[in-house]
This record gives sequence, C-alpha cells and structure tokens, in this order.
Amino acid sequence: EVIDHYFYDESAYDYHDGGYVPLEEPKAPEKPLNIPEILKPDKETATDMYYTIVAQTGEVQLMPGKKTKTWGYNAPLLGKTVVFKKGKTIHLHLVNHLPEVTTFHWHGLAIPGPIEDGGCHAPVYPGESRDVTFKIDQPAAFVWLHAHPCPSTAEQVWHGLAAGAIVQDEHESSLPLPRNYGVDDIPVILQDRRFHKGNQWNYRKDYDPDGVAGPTPMINGTINPYFDVTTQKVRLRFLDGANRREFRLHFSDDLEFTQIAGDLSLLPHPVKMTKLLIACAERQEIVVDFGKYKPGDVVTLYSDDVPLIKFRIHEFKPDNTSIPETLFETPDPAVDTDLPVHHVTLDGMDEAVAMNGKKFKMDRIDYKMPMGKVQLWDICNTNPAPGMIHPYHMHGTAFEVMSRNGHAPYPNELGLKDTVAVNPGEHVVIKVWFNVPGIFMYHCHIIEHEDGGMMAQLQVVDPAVPDKKYHLMDHMTL
Ligand code: C2O
Ligand code: CU
Ligand code: CU
Repeated sequence: EVIDHYFYDESAYDYHDGGYVPLEEPKAPEKPLNIPEILKPDKETATDMYYTIVAQTGEVQLMPGKKTKTWGYNAPLLGKTVVFKKGKTIHLHLVNHLPEVTTFHWHGLAIPGPIEDGGCHAPVYPGESRDVTFKIDQPAAFVWLHAHPCPSTAEQVWHGLAAGAIVQDEHESSLPLPRNYGVDDIPVILQDRRFHKGNQWNYRKDYDPDGVAGPTPMINGTINPYFDVTTQKVRLRFLDGANRREFRLHFSDDLEFTQIAGDLSLLPHPVKMTKLLIACAERQEIVVDFGKYKPGDVVTLYSDDVPLIKFRIHEFKPDNTSIPETLFETPDPAVDTDLPVHHVTLDGMDEAVAMNGKKFKMDRIDYKMPMGKVQLWDICNTNPAPGMIHPYHMHGTAFEVMSRNGHAPYPNELGLKDTVAVNPGEHVVIKVWFNVPGIFMYHCHIIEHEDGGMMAQLQVVDPAVPDKKYHLMDHMTL
C-alpha cells in the first residue's frame, strides 16, 4: 500500500492562515545544494569525543547582489553536522562569539537538563564559553542543535542558529541503507526567509506572533538548489527548521519514495508514500530510488506547487539492495499504573497562546515526574476548527505516539519521536519516560508560540537524589 495523502486536517494547514506567506520560486540562479561539512572532533578516543562549537556571525552570498548577514555554528550560516556515536562520552566546549546571550540546545538528545540539554537555563554570554559532558545512550537518529534563549529563540534561529547532528549506532550501521554522507545520504534542512533591501533579513519587521515566515525557500542555507544524483538510491534526512512553516513534500511524476525514520529512530517498518507533511522541528528520513531515470533527467522536490530542490540525474551503477522489512523494534515499556494520565493543553493563537491555560514562566516548575517511570500524556490542541496544527515537542526524552483521538497513529510516526503535530480539537496520547534527570521544557515548536508562552517545564526526579536543587533563571538579559 502506498500512502498518497498528507494525513492531518486539511482545514488546519498553514496556507489557510490569514497571515500565510506563500512560497515563491526564488529569482536567483541555481546553485549546488550546500552539504554542511562534518564537524571534526578536537579529539576522539575509543570512549570519548571532544568538540568545540562556536556560535558566530557571518555573511553569505545567498542572492545576487549584496551578501546577507547571518549567524551559524562553526560556519557563517546554520552549521557543520556533528556526529555522535552511541555509547561514547561527549565533551563539548561551547563558545559564544555573538553580540548577545545564547544557549546551545540539543533537540532530540536524551541528556540531563537543564544545563547539558541547553535550554533557557544554560546561558552562554557574549565572549564567554561553557563546557558540558554527557553520554550518548539512544538509537541512531538525525537530531539538531539550535539556540534556545527565552524569549529570543525564534529570532536567533531566524538569524541562522540551527545545525544537524547525526547519532550513529551499531544496529543502524549494520543495515543495507545509504550511508555515504554527502553522496547518497544528505541532510535537508527546510527553511524559508524574506529578503529585504540589500538582501538582509529583518526578523522584527516580519514579526508575526503566529510564526514568522518568508516567501523564499532556503534549503541547507542554499537558495534555488540542485543536487547531482550519482547513485540510484539517495537517503534524504529532512528537518523542518522553519520557525512556522509546514512543508508538504512530493516529487515530480508523483515519484514513490520510502520513509525509513522519524525524529528519534528508524521506523519499525518502511512506509511507501508519494506525499509527506513535515511540521516544525520534525525529522523524516526517506530513501528515493531514481532507478527509472536516465542521465540528463531532472526530478523536482516540491512543497505544495513550489520547487525546493532539483535532482539532476547522472550515470549511476544499478543498485539492487532492498530496504529491510523490519528496521527497528520500538521499545514498549509498560505504563506505571500509579501514574494517572497527565494532561497538556495547547491553547490559543497569536499573543494569546498558552499551555494548560498559563504562559511559560522560567522560574516555575509545572510538573514533577519520577525518572524511569512510564506515563501516558494526553496532548490536546484546544483550538476550535479550523485552527492550526501545533507541533508539540519535549526535551530530554524519546516518546511513542499511542493514539490520535482514540485511533491508531499515522503509519509513519511509529518509531520514537520528540515532536508530534496535533490537529485542532485532537487528543494525541503519547507514552513518556525519562532515563535522565533534570529540568526539561515542553512546548509548541512553532517557535513564536514557544517564545510567546505555549511552553512549560517539568522536573524529572532521580529517586537517588530526590531533593536536588536547580538554579532557575527568571529571565535573560539580551
Ligand atoms: Cu527544538 Cu525547546 O526545542
Ligand atoms: Cu528540544
Ligand atoms: Cu503552536
């Protein structure tokens, strides 16, 4: 069976918003898709990896004419791809060369909070640095790094502070999947921007409390990209790194593709499809088989009817490998019968956004949960129809989607996730457990909703240190 529709409630798609900014084909020459370099470790041993990550300003030739002023990690825009190996201890030296305070949040890593996790309680001030150490103990996945200072996460991500990171493990490495980075395994960071006079971005001018958007697609920091296909099969690791936009992905000729992974793991089984909606902060990995094309052909990836990437087909060797029918066994720990279902509501729109009726407060802990216990959380989008889809995200954990309004989850959200998009009026039940202690945020990942207060935080209590005290910031000076 091939999925040929986008799931979700069409009436809630972003293009129905009053403030919707339609994508447009950019007026810029085609350029090769930027493939972020792999960040070189400062040092790697059998057990440890050491990296230096620098948040910096830069300038990039994105459009004809003036260069655009940008921010990035170890690069002028976005960042180099960081590789983490499961089982290793990671040592990060985080450096801020920006003119304002920032944080380094590892979206998708199950590491202790709030300092290692890098949310709003882990500031790094201009000209300063911070060192963190944590162990990687989670399945192979495509995760990401982004800034998270409250309430300026959205503006800093818009400046360019977002980078991909790949978690590797032995199981994934043993499967016959494309894995040659930059050749047949490529990160695809989907964003959008508006270019103002002199090709500059102007976040404040474009501000919309329901999420900032621009008409120009930007993929891996490239405007109007093409990619040279030199292998029959190509693995695309999509990340929706946009502040607000959903991407409705499909190829020319309705080319069929296979989804193999979601946010935090491979899917249990590959899912064949021709259409894929990706919401803010989600990751979806697909394998595309270009076997029916010949050198000189061009295959286009679209969102709605706007081209995002042109795949230029070159000579390649026939590839008869098939994707295994079983990719991953999703852990399925039993729910703790002492823990009642925990309810979260995603409320309002525009300036009125809130969670459980309250706006986020940095020095308030909204909930406590014991480490290692498994609980059902019911996430409800209280927007009346048509409303909008809120992508709900949790730090520090990998959860499992159990049901949508009592029905089975979508077939391509069956692995481990850290973000789940919730339709208006819908209850999504997820199974949540934490293997690490600390303070963790959970919020809508339309980044302006998060900054606007559709966010809360919980304390995961380690039974060995039940009274551990955390220093919580009450605001950040920007
Ligand atoms: Cu992408 Cu609070 O995170
Ligand atoms: Cu996160
Ligand atoms: Cu939202």
